[in-house]
Amino acid sequence: MNKNKKDVKVEIKKGSMDEWPEPIVRVQSLAESNLSSLPDRYIKPASQRPTTTEEAPAATNIPIIDLEGLFSEEGTSDDVIMARISEACREWGFFQVLNHGVRPELMDAARESWREFFHLPVNAKETYSNSPRTYEGYGSRLGVEKGAILDWSDYYYLHLLPPRLKDFNKWPSFPPTIREVIDEYGKELVNLSGRIMRVLSSNLGLKEDKFQAAFGGENIGACLRVNYYPKCPRPELALGLSSHSDPGGMTILLPDDQVFGLQVRKDDTWITVKPHPHAFIVNIGDQIQILSNSTYKSVEHRVIVNSEKERVSLAFFYNPKSDIPIQPLQELVSTHSPPLYPPMTFDQYRLFIRTQGPRGKSHVESHVSPR
Ligand code: OGA
Ligand code: NI
Repeated sequence: MNKNKKDVKVEIKKGSMDEWPEPIVRVQSLAESNLSSLPDRYIKPASQRPTTTEEAPAATNIPIIDLEGLFSEEGTSDDVIMARISEACREWGFFQVLNHGVRPELMDAARESWREFFHLPVNAKETYSNSPRTYEGYGSRLGVEKGAILDWSDYYYLHLLPPRLKDFNKWPSFPPTIREVIDEYGKELVNLSGRIMRVLSSNLGLKEDKFQAAFGGENIGACLRVNYYPKCPRPELALGLSSHSDPGGMTILLPDDQVFGLQVRKDDTWITVKPHPHAFIVNIGDQIQILSNSTYKSVEHRVIVNSEKERVSLAFFYNPKSDIPIQPLQELVSTHSPPLYPPMTFDQYRLFIRTQGPRGKSHVESHVSPR
């Protein structure tokens, strides 16, 4: 089980995080140059291409859960909804939520503001270019390994919390209302995350604020990655985002309302998520898998692209305070079920993905306690 441990040990050479190993090419520029073929750097090995892995029947979808009533004032919880969330966290690691309390107009405004931003010419966005040290700003790759096969997407990454990392100057200023829209959207998603965290704790028989406390209480981190997947000339050879599990606590995704793309692994098949109008897609990240001692699953997912339509998605990440050790909760371990993971801070943990880029579940699977 531990044989890969040495290979994935994170060693950061001094200075290696200050810049990208190769000049950055914007995927938007490639897409707009009417290429007849796909550049080699985007051609995935045959085993990772979307068409070579078995796909589930088109009607299959991740669970869709209506939260109506769950968050009512009296604090009454609906056992059926709670049980469905519990099963989704254990069996799927992914579910869609309806009646989540965030206004549909705000969801649309957030996504369409970002679409306008990405429609700016590339050179207007270069002032926001990011570096691998913080990832903040406009980016076109994850990971700093030279020669890596890249994903067919550009993105924008920014911090919402903690307050000391939230810096409007690092956010886009076009379209003119984008900052206030992101700000309001971020606050709503922090609230929604807090409510879902209470459900996740209760469902494990814990006090409802247990997960939140383990995340550092008020001092949690929250950030947004907006993904822009341009049209791709050879979608069968590429991926918009390679298979990965999310390193943080929990993710709330607002998908494109017109274009499919997200695929979730269920056993050995890939399920293409069919988004319900104005639903959010919630998924468990590695830190909650670790806290729950693997009762809840942080599941692999990836994004496929197409030649007809671009796609925009907003991934909101709800994370533990970055410098406190995260390990299985004491209440969930015993001699019969020993802790599966040693303590590690999220700052340390996320270096895996920041240096190596998306690599399925290898990060959390190599982070296991010695036997
Ligand atoms: C992510 C992610 C999925 C999507 O940003 O981590 O998995 O549909 N995004 O863009
Ligand atoms: Ni993800």
